[in-house]
Amino acid sequence: MESIQAIKQRFGIIGNTPALNRAIEKAIQVAPTDISVLVTGESGVGKESIPKIIHQLSHRKHNKYIAVNCGAIPEGTIDSELFGHEKGSFTGATQTREGYFEVADGGTIFLDEVGELPLTTQVRLLRVLENGEFLKVGSSKVQKTNVRIVAATNVNMFEAIEKEKFREDLYYRLSTVDIHLPPLRDRQEDIHLLFRKFASDFALKYKMPTIKLTDAAVQMLLKHRWAGNIRQLRNIAEQLSVLEQNRTISAETLKSYLPASSSNLPAVIKTSKAESDFSSEREILYKVLFDMKSDLNDLKKLTLELMKNGNTKDVEKNNESLIQKIYGNDEDDAEYEEDTVDTDEVLSIPEHAVKQDALETTPDKYHFAEEIEEEETLSLQDKELELIKKSLERHQGKRKLAAAELGISERTLYRKIKQYDL
Ligand SMILES: Nc1ncnc2c1ncn2[C@@H]1O[C@H](COP(=O)(O)OP(=O)(O)OP(=O)(O)O)[C@@H](O)[C@H]1O
Ligand SMILES: [Mg+2]
Repeated sequence: MESIQAIKQRFGIIGNTPALNRAIEKAIQVAPTDISVLVTGESGVGKESIPKIIHQLSHRKHNKYIAVNCGAIPEGTIDSELFGHEKGSFTGATQTREGYFEVADGGTIFLDEVGELPLTTQVRLLRVLENGEFLKVGSSKVQKTNVRIVAATNVNMFEAIEKEKFREDLYYRLSTVDIHLPPLRDRQEDIHLLFRKFASDFALKYKMPTIKLTDAAVQMLLKHRWAGNIRQLRNIAEQLSVLEQNRTISAETLKSYLPASSSNLPAVIKTSKAESDFSSEREILYKVLFDMKSDLNDLKKLTLELMKNGNTKDVEKNNESLIQKIYGNDEDDAEYEEDTVDTDEVLSIPEHAVKQDALETTPDKYHFAEEIEEEETLSLQDKELELIKKSLERHQGKRKLAAAELGISERTLYRKIKQYDL
């Protein structure tokens, strides 16, 4: 049996906290069986490695591993994505389609954000788990499949059960074994270790000297709450690596990157903090929308200019990183993915179904926002983030109400919350 250390190395897992080691050990132990596993833990704690370990160490490793983000697939299509559909079963179903449970026969399906599954889908899932049977949407022919399920959630499933959003029987069926990953704040000895690893990765990636923290900055790192856990720590390491000229990071500099600090919030938000009544919030909202529109126009102009300029070389000189953003930089991305698990057997699945992580960390979006920020004092992302925060605060975290106020769907809001580690 591979040792915990070897597994960590193979899957790029950093850390030595006993609770982390215990979680990996459990994954190794259950891997050869077909037992359903539920991975729990706050957002950004590294749940996604566990199903990969389980699959790779199981007899299923030569068959498919499919990761499905249940929270990102629209409710109307999730049954069809998971179980397939018959031709003509709904408008637009011009072909019979195989679902993931059919394609992954003999393999493993990772159901991420399983708490987000609609109740009707939960019924179908329970049936597959119990006897391996399922029906394509629009079909009455029972099909068989042999799939191992690993699910993950960052929400309190008991609460979801209480609110009748999640079936209790399905919960117990999914969580035969529970693997819990601790939050970063409870992994004190790992925090600086992880930061150093990310700092050195980003130095390599952006071809800059590695940043280093002063002792006081390390202390600040250790005391921080890390609501977004490792994902948040890595984002901050990336921002510091890209933006800070002085490669020794003081506590003061670090503080300006940590969310509790208001020093780096846009001015418009400061106004909104001072004024709490709703009509002034409305006004700010309009102003922000107006600003966003002008940002967008600037962006359109810039893109048009770039497109018109057949020889991009000249522009490239002046605006290298922006060009990179627009035309992409595959080389860098490939380098970045190097450490991850062998994806030969990973089926290509629709963009909305796969994890958001790549999106969050590719330099594309990041630099793109940064570029705008240089021209404007406020970035689009800052504004969006603050609007969402405000709205969630006002509605005591109720996503439905906040989404309605923001004029976006609950699902979009859910994705934004994840994207910004709220
Ligand atoms: N121990 C670790 N060592 C190195 N990187 C890690 C570790 N744990 C997590 N990460 C990185 O942190 C990021 C977040 O991890 P992951 O996507 O697995 O979080 P998650 O628990 O699935 O969160 P969510 O519930 O929001 O989906 C990933 O990019 C992952 O590579
Ligand atoms: Mg995840």
